[in-house]
Amino acid sequence: MKKLHLLIVFLITSMMAFAGEGMWIPMLLQYNEKEMQEMGMRITADDIYSINHSSLKDAIVLFGGGCTGEIVSDYGLLLTNHHCGYDWIQKHSSVEHDYLTDGFWAMDRSQELPCPGLSVTILREMRDVTKQVLQHVTDEMSEEKRQATIDQSIKEIVAEMEKSTKYKVSIKPFFLGNEYYLLLNEVFTDVRLVGCPPSNIGKFGGDTDNWVWPRHTGDFSVFRVYADKDGHPANYSVDNVPYKPAKHLDISLKGAEEGDFAFVFGYPARTNEYLPAVAVDQEANVIDPIAVRLRGEILDIYNKYQEQDKKVRIQYASKHAGLGNGWKKWMGVTEGINHFHGVEKKRYYEEAFEKWCYVTFQRSFYFNLLQQFEEKYKELEPYRVAYTYLSNAGLNIEIIDFAGNFNKLSQVTADTPQEDVDKMIASLRKATQAFFKDYYQPIDEEVARTMLSEYLENQPADFRPSFLNEIKDVDAYVEQLFKKSIFASEEQVNDFLDHFKPNKLKKLQKDPALQAYQSMIGFYREEVNPKMGPINKEIDRLQRLYMKGQMQMEPEKRFSPDANFTLRVTYGKVEGFKPQDGKNYRHFTTLDGIMEKENPDIYDYVVEPRLKELYNNKDYGRYADKDGTMHVAFTASVHTTGGNSGSPILNADGQLLGLNFDRCWEGTMSDLIYDSAICRNISVDIRYVLFIMDKFAGARHLVDEMTIVE
Ligand code: ARG
Ligand code: ASP
Repeated sequence: MKKLHLLIVFLITSMMAFAGEGMWIPMLLQYNEKEMQEMGMRITADDIYSINHSSLKDAIVLFGGGCTGEIVSDYGLLLTNHHCGYDWIQKHSSVEHDYLTDGFWAMDRSQELPCPGLSVTILREMRDVTKQVLQHVTDEMSEEKRQATIDQSIKEIVAEMEKSTKYKVSIKPFFLGNEYYLLLNEVFTDVRLVGCPPSNIGKFGGDTDNWVWPRHTGDFSVFRVYADKDGHPANYSVDNVPYKPAKHLDISLKGAEEGDFAFVFGYPARTNEYLPAVAVDQEANVIDPIAVRLRGEILDIYNKYQEQDKKVRIQYASKHAGLGNGWKKWMGVTEGINHFHGVEKKRYYEEAFEKWCYVTFQRSFYFNLLQQFEEKYKELEPYRVAYTYLSNAGLNIEIIDFAGNFNKLSQVTADTPQEDVDKMIASLRKATQAFFKDYYQPIDEEVARTMLSEYLENQPADFRPSFLNEIKDVDAYVEQLFKKSIFASEEQVNDFLDHFKPNKLKKLQKDPALQAYQSMIGFYREEVNPKMGPINKEIDRLQRLYMKGQMQMEPEKRFSPDANFTLRVTYGKVEGFKPQDGKNYRHFTTLDGIMEKENPDIYDYVVEPRLKELYNNKDYGRYADKDGTMHVAFTASVHTTGGNSGSPILNADGQLLGLNFDRCWEGTMSDLIYDSAICRNISVDIRYVLFIMDKFAGARHLVDEMTIVE
C-alpha cells in the first residue's frame, strides 16, 4: 500500500512540476531563495522583500486599478506601460494637443500633468492571519455560516489593526480560502503624467501584433508620484513635492542573454491553476469558443466599415481593441489547452488524487469530490453559456447598451427629489455626447441583426431574454428598433432630456431599445444569477477542499496561490521558444524588425521619421546592445497574467531589464495551466525605453534622474 502511495505521489510530482510556474508571495520568498539562486540570482529574498530595511518591494506600485508600475528615481519617477497610461494620455489630449498621436514630454516639473482620479498603491507589509481569520470556523458549518464567521473575524482584525497604523488595511483570501493574509498599503493620489512616446511607438503593431511574438512595441509611459512635504500621500496640490521612495530600481544597460535568470515583480490579477479537468474543458471548449465566435463576427463587421472610412476607423479603434483583446486571447487558450492536452493532464492528476484518497482512506473527507465537480459544472454550463451570450451578443448591440443608461431615469416618480433628477440628466447629457462621438449606426444595425440571429438560432427560448421570443423576423425587428427608438439619434435624446418631466415617462418606458435592455437585465437578474449563484457557491466550497487535498497529498511540493491582485514574485529565464514543429523563436527583437514591418499605409505599422533617422544613422548611443543593434523587446519563461502589465522584469542583481507588457499567443492558457515549454511573457527592453526618451524625444533630463548601471 505504502509503495503504491509513493509511486503515485512521484508520478504526480514529476508531471506537475513545471519549472517557472508559480506566483509567489514576497513575504514567503525565503522558501524559493535556494532555487532562485541556483538559477543564477545573486541577491537574497530579503533584498526583494523586507519590512526591516528598504527592499525592492518599496519601488513596486499597483498603478491605478489594473496595472503595475515601478519607481526608478529618488524623485518618484515611475514607469509603466503605454497601454496602462493610455486613458490618462487620452484625457489630456485634444485636437490642439494630440498626445496620443504626437507623444508628450514634460521638459521640466512644472509641465507635468496632474491626473486626478489616478492613484498608486505601495505595499508596506503583509502578515499571515489565517489562524485568526479561521479561528471560529468548523468543518460542520454551512457555507453561509462559514462566510459570515470569516467576515466578522476580518472586520475585527482590520478594526484592531487600524488603531495602530496609518496605512490602509485589508485582508484577502489565498489558496482558494484556505489561507488569509493582511496587507498594509500606502495609497498616493497625486500622480502626474511626465511623458509618453507617440502611439506609433507605444502601440506599434497595434491589435494586429497584440498577443503575438515577434513583437516591436515600445509599450511604456512615464509618470511621477508626488507627496506632501513630509513624504506622506496627499491629494494634488501645487505645494506637493516629488515622492522620495525608500528604494528605487537601478537600471541595467547590459541586456540579457538566453538562459539568464530573470524575475517579474508585480500585481497579477487572476489565475485559476487548480481547477478540475471538467472546468478547464468547459472554459476552453465551450465558453471561450462561443465568446470567440460572437466577438469574431462583431469584429468582422467593425473591420469592414473601419476599412471604408478613416473617421469610423478612429471611432471604433478603442472598441475594437477592447473586444479584440479577449477574442484573440481566448482563441489562444483553446488552442493551447487542446494542443498540449491540458484536460487530459488534469484528468491524469485527478486519477492519482482519487487513488490517493482511496489508499489513505482516513481522508474520506475528499471522497467523491471530483464526481461532485462533474455534476456541478454540468449544472452550471447552460447558465454560463446564457451569460456568455448576454455579455457578448446582447450587450454589444450599442443602442441597447446605451439605452440602459436611461433605465434609472425611466423609474423616476413625482417623489424623486428634483436635485437627483437634475444630477441624472446632467450625467446623461455627458454620456450622450460621448456615445454619439464614437457611434456609427450602420455598424450597430449590422451587429444587431447578426447578434440577434445568433441568439435565436443557438439559444433555447428559456435561456434567452424574453423579448427575443416575440421576434418573428430579425430584419424587420431591427429596422423598427432603429426607426422607433430615440436612442438612434443624438438630437432626439437631447430633445428628450431638454423637455424631461417625471410625468412624461411613457415615451421612455415604451422605447424598444430600453425595453430590450430591461428584458436582458431582467433575464440576468431573475433567471441567470439566482441559478448560478448557489452553484458557484458550492463549487467554491469544493474548490477549497480540493486545494486543501492537493496540498495534503503533496506535502513536499511548494504550492503557489492563484493570482488575486496582490504583489507577487515570479521567476524563470530569458529564453525564446518553439511554438510548433519547425518554428524556433529567438528571445529578442530589434529596431531592424520595425523597419521590416514598416508600412505607411497600414495604421499599425507607420514608423516615425525621427526614429527612421536614428535607425539610418545607427545613432543608438550607450543603449545599443553589444551586438550593435537596438534591442526592442524580449521573451522570458516567467509566469505572468493580466495586471502584470507594466511590471519590472529584473536580472540576477535585481536591476531593471525591461517592462512586462504581454504574453505569446501560444501560451495564453497559462492562466489555467502553465507550461514552461510554451508560455512566454513579453517585455519591452529598458534600453529601448531610454533610447526613445533620450535620443528620440530629447528628454535626457529624465534618464539623468535614474541610476544607470552600464
Ligand atoms: N494583450 C495585452 C493585455 O492583455 C495588451 C493589450 C493592449 N494592447 C493592444 N494592442 N490592445 O492586456
Ligand atoms: N497585457 C496584459 C496586461 O495588460 C498582460 C498579460 O495578460 O500578459 O496586464
